Amino acid sequence: MTDQYTQATATADSIRALTPIAPRLGIILGSGLGNFASQVENAVIVPYSDIPYFPHSTVEGHSGKLVLGHVAGVPVAVMQGRVHAYEGYPLSEVTFPTRVLGLLGCKSLIVTNAAGAINTKYKQGDLVVISDHINLTGSNAALGPNDPKFGPRFFDMTTAYSAKLRALAHAEAAKQKIALAEGVYLAVLGPSYETPAEIRAFRILGADLVGMSTVHEVIVARHMGIEVLGLSLVTNMAAGVLNEAINHEEVMETGRRVEHQFTSLLTALIPQIDIT
Ligand code: 6GU
Repeated sequence: MTDQYTQATATADSIRALTPIAPRLGIILGSGLGNFASQVENAVIVPYSDIPYFPHSTVEGHSGKLVLGHVAGVPVAVMQGRVHAYEGYPLSEVTFPTRVLGLLGCKSLIVTNAAGAINTKYKQGDLVVISDHINLTGSNAALGPNDPKFGPRFFDMTTAYSAKLRALAHAEAAKQKIALAEGVYLAVLGPSYETPAEIRAFRILGADLVGMSTVHEVIVARHMGIEVLGLSLVTNMAAGVLNEAINHEEVMETGRRVEHQFTSLLTALIPQIDIT
């Protein structure tokens, strides 16, 4: 079997053969946030199914396209959709696209997701900057033999979510009068949502948000020395916070509702991130 570095290098080469755009910033769009990809100018759109070794998703609302182009003058690679571990993909596949973004030259990564709110101060539709994470998925994307071509065996996660990028996000949100909270994202494997008892436990652990993505991509990005900005959209309150059930439709709907704010914040942030 070909090793991941060789595969990711081949994939990066095949993308370079399609376009001269050399992305400096990667963006992974979460559930309900995929429309941001329409902001990309001179877009070269490549379905994941056409990209060698790229995993492609089965879940509705994760359409699966890589969009290369420019946003506010910055060459970007936008992932519209991602695959999740709960679909049965090994973490090597879940994080393969992040490896490719790194090999394509991305120095920064904006990771976004739809999340449930554990913090009762949050409400549906809130945007939250991720300050840190708790990985309770039971695994780690850097598991297995280390390839030093990607990064070191042991790597620091103290500053996984760049303080500098978080500060930029808050400053830009304030300027645009967009409410932007900050909190700790806790990841579970899924696909079941949590029980109310789990959510009470996670709150005691210090989590503000819960979801089923992001942490693996962030771990791999940090392994490669890529700077990370994490943004969550609160699509619903977590189990037991309200007296109601959680459904996936709500997740998609909330995304459409805040699309304008999300797009406006991200578009303004991108050139600021690129110069830092
Ligand atoms: Cl409540 N839990 C998890 N694990 N993921 C979510 C969510 C909840 N809401 C949106 N995504």
